[in-house]
Amino acid sequence: MDRTFLMVKPDGVQRGLIGEIVARLENKGLKIVAAKFEKLPEERVMEHYAEHVEKPFFPGLKSYITSGPCFLMVWEGKNVVSITRQMIGATNPAEAVPGTIRGDYALEIGMNVIHGSDSTETAEREISIHFKPEEISGYERIDEKFLY
Ligand code: TYD
Ligand code: MG
Repeated sequence: MDRTFLMVKPDGVQRGLIGEIVARLENKGLKIVAAKFEKLPEERVMEHYAEHVEKPFFPGLKSYITSGPCFLMVWEGKNVVSITRQMIGATNPAEAVPGTIRGDYALEIGMNVIHGSDSTETAEREISIHFKPEEISGYERIDEKFLY
């Protein structure tokens, strides 16, 4: 089954949005298989956002993402990467459609509440950056035979 890495960013944690975000994903039928609450060390931020380290917005992104704890998760489900990217919405909340997480809960690109992997390759990479294999637990959800 496909997996992705999702993370409620420090603004989402501070605003009490963890429960709302987890509920949306669970209600969709997606399955949470790992989670932890953690303030990201600087080296891990550099690795996670390797594609952005040279960008002009990176210093601001780094101080924002390390400003407090994040809620890190691995989710599983058919087409989970594209489904969660759709549920998250556009990078800039000003362009994110209402009904998406960023469209409903954020105003600015610099504080857009949640991260989600953008491809299956990225997901595999990001999961391995943030989680050890033994921190991920597969299990059968009771409603699965009505989802697939
Ligand atoms: P990006 O990977 O392009 O977006 P996404 O999170 O949707 O995959 O960028 C990573 C984060 O960097 C993004 O969530 C918010 C921040 N960012 C800025 O602050 N300014 C910018 O101009 C861009 C492109 C991103
Ligand atoms: Mg990205």
